[in-house]
Amino acid sequence: MTNTTPISALQSTLDRFKSTLSRIDEALLGSDYTEDVLKDVCRILGQLPGYTGVYIYVLEGDTLVLTAFEGRKTQHVRIPAGTGICGASVQSKAPVIVADVASDARYLACNLETKSEIVVPILRDGLYLAQIDIDSDDRAAFDTMDEAFLFEVARRICPLF
Ligand code: SME
Repeated sequence: MTNTTPISALQSTLDRFKSTLSRIDEALLGSDYTEDVLKDVCRILGQLPGYTGVYIYVLEGDTLVLTAFEGRKTQHVRIPAGTGICGASVQSKAPVIVADVASDARYLACNLETKSEIVVPILRDGLYLAQIDIDSDDRAAFDTMDEAFLFEVARRICPLF
């Protein structure tokens, strides 16, 4: 028996998510400056396999404003709430997973390498405060496990907003 069975793959994903959450808990204690903590959170998330670009946008009025990131730069530093995959999450107040960005008309391209994307909202009492947006160079990189994990990250960093 090899250690690459579906169950052991699942177990290593869970272990990776668990240790990432511990590192995020440490980062939350690491600085009094919100921007520094958010940069750190992006850096930690960017070390996960397939998490090529990590972006945290804060909703200011009707505009998503890029506040911290890790990975490739994006020209989309301000996104109107109804625009793009990021804006779609604001409108639905829900996560969005796109397995193939090339076949999604809503997609705002940052580069040609990105193949898939996930956006998870940061909500407080139903109020949309901010979002975590991850790009991957791998097609269909994200599933409901990533969604559940990123919701947990969102819950932890929510007090910063
Ligand atoms: N692709 C996003 C734009 C933001 S970048 O991915 C960082 C969108 O379609 O809303």
